[in-house]
Amino acid sequence: MDFNLTEEHQLIRETARDFTNNELLPGVIERDENQIFPTEQIKRMGELGFLGMMVDPKYGGGGMDTLSYVIAMEELSKVDASASVIMSVNNSLVCWGLETYGTEEQKQKYLTRLASGEIIGAFCLSEPEAGSDATSQKTTAIDKGDHYILNGTKNWITNGSTASVYLVIAQTDKEKGHRGINAFIVEKEMEGFEIGPKEQKLGIRGSDTHSLIFNDVKVPKENRIGEEFFGFKFAMKTLAGGRIGIAAQALGIAAGAYQLAKEYSKIRKAFGTEICNHQAIAFKLADMHTQIEAARMLVYKAALDKDNHANYDLSGAMAKLYASQVAMETTVEAVQIHGGNGYVKEYHVERLMRDAKITQIYEGTSEIQKIVISRAVLKD
Ligand code: CAA
Repeated sequence: MDFNLTEEHQLIRETARDFTNNELLPGVIERDENQIFPTEQIKRMGELGFLGMMVDPKYGGGGMDTLSYVIAMEELSKVDASASVIMSVNNSLVCWGLETYGTEEQKQKYLTRLASGEIIGAFCLSEPEAGSDATSQKTTAIDKGDHYILNGTKNWITNGSTASVYLVIAQTDKEKGHRGINAFIVEKEMEGFEIGPKEQKLGIRGSDTHSLIFNDVKVPKENRIGEEFFGFKFAMKTLAGGRIGIAAQALGIAAGAYQLAKEYSKIRKAFGTEICNHQAIAFKLADMHTQIEAARMLVYKAALDKDNHANYDLSGAMAKLYASQVAMETTVEAVQIHGGNGYVKEYHVERLMRDAKITQIYEGTSEIQKIVISRAVLKD
């Protein structure tokens, strides 16, 4: 693996870092506290090309590789994981899913606007009774000839109220189980589509998470993604890439907390010296640094696998499993190093600790990653 970043990759890192420090950092505490969606910041991210980074320029995207995307995700997540999950869902799940499996008409109609950031999208798989067990879809899509009728409820949907376009997974033929599932493009304006209450969350509080209700929503057949009954595979393939984005988010949260803890340890004095001079603190920093470097290697490896058209199910799951664990452990230690100051909002690390937890839950819990990994390694 060649981890020497090209000039282009370095430029992406610098651009993302400048944007993060100048435009995400101001107000991040207030947005978290009051659950404010970063509307202006998302608009700017669209202008900077962060919302459709890997999409072909002919559909309004940046035409960049996955490594560029994870570099940008890491930088933004150091400060604002709410902004970065919005970015991740739009890039990895919505744009990638449509570009890879959509028809030319679907791409012209939806992808161009999603990739430029003119609108954002949401990915709707989870249900009240189908989170990890994604095959147990209860939302139905009944085939009515030239259209489908959708009924059901989706849960914990990122960009739930702010999206304009929703990729929805639903069961058409119950007898066929996961082989009877379809995926659809649903527009916000479609009759019978309703946005449920906003979730009150522990972390990523600036992102809007809702349940969604489908009441006899009429979806034209041309809005089905892929062949009939391709829906479950569509979801699995899309999530496999999404996990690389969330792994990069976890890496960024860990790196952001570590950076703050390191800086703090050099200025905070206790027992007559800066606390970094005490081994109790220095050894924590050594562990954090090592774990973050290891996580970064797994994240970059998964990104390179995807760019090299190798199978990335395993490397993506390993990256997400490990980086999210590092995010959790590192942010807890960063709070500890800050002592009492770590427990108050203005030092930022308590927010990063709360944000870290979701990376072990969404786009497949840590346990789901272990299912994917163990199945892959036991296959040989
Ligand atoms: N690529 C292609 N096909 C795949 C696949 C992959 N990566 N993984 C599974 N499949 C296929 C299998 O080949 C199989 O197809 P066939 O029967 O035709 O051969 C089918 O899918 C079913 O596979 P399994 O038998 O392995 O299914 P399972 O019931 O054992 O579950 C699972 C597999 C990995 C646990 C899956 O259910 C899963 O990933 N669950 C987690 C779902 C998840 O990540 N939800 C997150 C919601 S989205 C989100 O969080 C977004 C957000 O807002 C931030």
